[in-house]
Amino acid sequence: MIGDYILEIAYLIASVLYIFGLKMMSDPKTAKNGNLWAAVGMTVAIVATIFLYMDSEGKHLHNLPWIGGGIAIGSVLGYLMAKRVQMTDMPQMVSLFNGMGGACAAIIGLIEFPHYAHNPESSFLILLTIYAGVVIGSTSFAGSMIAFLKLNGNLNKDIRLPFYNVMNTGLIIAAVGLTICLAGGHIHANVDMWVYILLGLSLAYGVLFVLPIGGADMPVVISLLNSFTGMAAAFGGFLYGNMAMLTGGILVGSAGTILTVVMCNAMNRSLSAVIFGAFGTGGAAAAAVGDGKQKSYKQTSPSDLAVLLNYSSKVIIVPGYGLAVAQAQHVVHELESILSSRGVEVKYAIHPVAGRMPGHMNVLLAESNVDYDRLVEMEDINPEFSTCDVVLVLGANDVVNPAAKEDPSSPIYGMPILNVEDAKHTVINKRSMSVGYAGIDNDLFYRDKSSMLFGDAKKVLTELVSELKAL
Ligand code: TAP
Repeated sequence: MIGDYILEIAYLIASVLYIFGLKMMSDPKTAKNGNLWAAVGMTVAIVATIFLYMDSEGKHLHNLPWIGGGIAIGSVLGYLMAKRVQMTDMPQMVSLFNGMGGACAAIIGLIEFPHYAHNPESSFLILLTIYAGVVIGSTSFAGSMIAFLKLNGNLNKDIRLPFYNVMNTGLIIAAVGLTICLAGGHIHANVDMWVYILLGLSLAYGVLFVLPIGGADMPVVISLLNSFTGMAAAFGGFLYGNMAMLTGGILVGSAGTILTVVMCNAMNRSLSAVIFGAFGTGGAAAAAVGDGKQKSYKQTSPSDLAVLLNYSSKVIIVPGYGLAVAQAQHVVHELESILSSRGVEVKYAIHPVAGRMPGHMNVLLAESNVDYDRLVEMEDINPEFSTCDVVLVLGANDVVNPAAKEDPSSPIYGMPILNVEDAKHTVINKRSMSVGYAGIDNDLFYRDKSSMLFGDAKKVLTELVSELKAL
């Protein structure tokens, strides 16, 4: 039928648009358009499915009012949320949307299994596809909801139930075993009940797997959940023989997996440790309390810092979560431009988990048109700190905490950090002496070469810029 060919061509066009869109997202200059291309691809796939899809009896979709209603509600909600979200709340929103994707994939499995489970001709592969979609989709949904609550500050960062490792491992073994039994046709009675037990086990695993993860380990979990949702969607695409859904799922799944590996390397954690929940092994509370001794720190002011910067030859800026909170990306760019115009070499040191989402600092600085060549990744910038006069740490804390190198009892021990203390002077801007995301004290603030510059990043940087202009 001609309609089928057009539908397949539409799916092919959608898949190509996803691939090009994703490719364009790898460069900040083209990322926005890449997002648009992928969205156009998704629109093509949805419109083509609505008007051209036909079932085996040659009938078009009959429930158009329901589909139209769902699309209208989803579009309005999505538009309003995307318009209103603050940049610093983006990670929560990404978690929420990722969870919705996982839930959709799980619902596909729940709707489709009755059509296949009771049919003796259903193959092991097709049943495995359906049940794996339920398990991975619901795990991603439950895990993403917990991640959302943690990132939104509604849940304690790490809640450790007794024997959580044993429980998590037991749950995953039970879910995998039940999936194989169901797909292999080894369960003949009460199949529906067992599928809902499988759903319950997967939801419980999603909750319990993310619940204990605290400290600074959330980035790995977020990208892992992202890859889960992609995989679950790909199972749906395979089940329906839908190329656009399959390609989209595989792209999200593989991009999420690559990001997970990058994040694991950044945090110096192994993937097996993440999956079996055996990491982030406590110590945060103890470390946060510290050793009880009053430690002293030095303070500096915008006027003193302006003089120091003006007579420096090399300055490295370390952006962190606080810079995003303060929305100080434009004024930091102004500072960099003034210093550069006076012959100072200025670079930005980018830690892979600075902020609250992968690439957070890159996106933030791109907003103010900072030249991308000035952004230097951690491995490349670390040897340069010893050659620089001033490091300006702006709203960063965990990513410059030397406990990661020096204190084996610290929850961030082993995480690679930016070696800012190698510079001649380290100036740290934040509002107080309070802790960062991992909830632990930072000995950097009390070191001989360090000075604190207290205040909101935007306010302090604005003062600094006017002091510099006056020199
Ligand atoms: P954090 O360790 O969270 O420290 C941010 C610091 O910014 C805080 O200590 C805070 O101190 C300061 N701050 C807040 N508002 C400020 C403002 N208006 N002006 C100036 N300073 C302000 O940030 P980081 O160093 O970027 O590290 C990121 C952390 O988040 C890591 O632990 C990472 O694992 C975790 N995490 C990352 C991700 C991803 S994917 N990037 C996802 C989830 C979690 P004051 O309150 O004293 O101002």
